[in-house]
Amino acid sequence: MENYQNYKKLYDWKKPKNRKWPDKEIVSAPIWCSVDLRDGNQALANPMTIDEKIEFFDYLVSIGFKEIEIGFPVASETEFQFTRYLIENNKIPDDVKIQVLTQSREEIIARTFEALEGAKNAIVHLYNSTSKIQREVVFHKSQEEVKKIATDGAKLINEYIKKYPNTNWYLEYSPESFSTTELDYATEVINAVLKEWKGHIKTKPIINLPATIECAMPNVFADQVEYICENIENRENVIVSIHSHNDRGCGVATSEMSLLAGADRIEGALFGNGERTGNADILNIAMNMYVLGVDPELDFSHINDAKAIYEKCTKMKVGPRHPYAGELVFTAFSGSHQDAISKGLKAIKEEKKEYWEVPYLPINPKDVSREYEPIIRINSQSGKGGVAFIIEQEIGYQIPKKMQKEIGYFIKNVSDKAHRELNNQEIVKAFLSNYENRLGTLKITKYENKKDTIKISIQIKEKIIEIESAIDNIIDCFFANLKENGYSIELEECIEQVLDKKIITYVYIRKDNIWAIGIDKDKTKSKILALISAVNRMEEK
Ligand code: KIV
Ligand code: ZN
Repeated sequence: MENYQNYKKLYDWKKPKNRKWPDKEIVSAPIWCSVDLRDGNQALANPMTIDEKIEFFDYLVSIGFKEIEIGFPVASETEFQFTRYLIENNKIPDDVKIQVLTQSREEIIARTFEALEGAKNAIVHLYNSTSKIQREVVFHKSQEEVKKIATDGAKLINEYIKKYPNTNWYLEYSPESFSTTELDYATEVINAVLKEWKGHIKTKPIINLPATIECAMPNVFADQVEYICENIENRENVIVSIHSHNDRGCGVATSEMSLLAGADRIEGALFGNGERTGNADILNIAMNMYVLGVDPELDFSHINDAKAIYEKCTKMKVGPRHPYAGELVFTAFSGSHQDAISKGLKAIKEEKKEYWEVPYLPINPKDVSREYEPIIRINSQSGKGGVAFIIEQEIGYQIPKKMQKEIGYFIKNVSDKAHRELNNQEIVKAFLSNYENRLGTLKITKYENKKDTIKISIQIKEKIIEIESAIDNIIDCFFANLKENGYSIELEECIEQVLDKKIITYVYIRKDNIWAIGIDKDKTKSKILALISAVNRMEEK
C-alpha cells in the first residue's frame, strides 16, 4: 500500500482541555429516529416501492419508533405520494412523528409543506453542507454565504409553519458534513439557525450533527459533540441529535460515544443501511444497550422479523455474522467454546442465576426469539462437550463424562466422512445406532423377570444359551456363561440414568476400551443389553 502518503487527516482535531464524556455511561435510551425510509432508501439500487415503504413503516412503528424520517418528498413522486398516503389514510399513530428532509430553497420548502399538509405531528428537517471542502469546491461560497443558506432556510420554514397551523411542528437542522466542519464555524451556523427559530415553535428544535463521512476515530467525534453541547445557545431547550455514517466501520461506536458526550437523540437505520457504508445500525446500538441492562425502548424480541422485513423491502442481505441478528451469531464451531457454553447454560439452569452470564453467548438467544438448538453445530472441528450437549438437549441422555470424549471423536468421524456439518437429528441417529442396544453376534431372544428370578435366552451366533438365576446373581451368571462361550469381559464402569420410566445403562469395558448403552424399562435387562451391545461392538472392531 504505497499511496498512504496521498492522505492526510481530514479533520484537524484539537484535544479539548477538560473532556468529560469518557467518564460517563449510557443509562437510558435516547430518542430514536429511523432513517431507513430516507437515507436507507436513497442508497438502494432500486428504491422501495410505496407498498414496501408502507410495510417497513408499519414495522418501525410496531417495534416502538416514535420518530421516522419517511423521505425527501421533493426528491421523487414516490416519496411525495408515500407521505400523502400515510397522512390521508391515517396511518400515523398520534404518538409518532414523521420527519421529512428538505434543502434550503423556497420551491422545495413550499412543496415539502404541501406534502405534509394534514399531518398531526411532523418534523421538517433542513440541511445544508458546511464543511470547508464543500464550501470551497462544491458551492464556491464563503463561510458567511453558507451560513446564510441555513438561516434563509430557517426563516422560510418559519413562514410556512404559519401557513399550516393545524400541525404540531418540530424543526430539525443538520449542518451536513459536520464531522469535517471547523467546530467554531459549525457552532456559529447552529446558533444562527437556533436564533431564527427561537419563539417560532413551541417544541424544542433538534440540532442534528452528522458524521456525513466518518473521518476520524469515534473519540474525536465525541469531542466534537461535547464541544457543541457546551457551546450552543440555550442548550437545555435544544435536542442534540447524531446522524453517523459508517465509513470507518465505527458508526455504532461513534453514536454510542456521542451519547456519552451529551447527545439526546440518535438517527440510524436497521442493519446499518444507508449511503455508501451505511448509517449507524440502530438495531446494533439498541441491543448493545440491552445487554448492558438498559431498556432500549425498541422491541427486537423477534429479531428474525426485523431481518425478514429488511431483506424483503430493501433486497439487501443481512450478513451471517451480523451482531445479534446474523444466522451464525448463536453458533459455536470450536470445541472449547461448545464446552464452555454447555457448562454456562447448565449453571444458569441449576444455580438459577439472577443475571445472564454464559461464556461466548453475550445474550440469551431466547430474548430475541432465537433457538438454543442451533447454538452448537457439529462439524469436524467440534469438541466432545458439544456433542454431549446436543444429545442431552435432544433426547435427555446424560452421557457420562468419561464417555464424552469417545462420542466426540466418533461423531467428528461421521462428519468428516460426510464432508459436512451434521444436524442434531443426524448426530442423535448416529449416536444411538452405534452405541445403544446394538445388534450383532449376541442377542436376547427371551427375557422373563419373575420378581425373584430372571430367565434369559441369549443367542450367540447359531447357539442359544439359557440363563436362570436369582436377581442378585444374574449378572455374574451372565458373565460366567459368556466366558464359557469365549467372551471374557471386564466391566469397569456402569452408570445408570432413569429417563421417562426407562433405565439407560452406560457401560465401559476396559480391556477393549469399549463404551456401550442399554435401555429398557427393566433395570437388569437394560444392563444386560448394554453388555451385549459392548460385546457386539467389540466383535465389529
Ligand atoms: O449524512 C448526512 O449528513 C445526511 C444529512 C442530510 C443529515 O444524511
Ligand atoms: Zn446521512
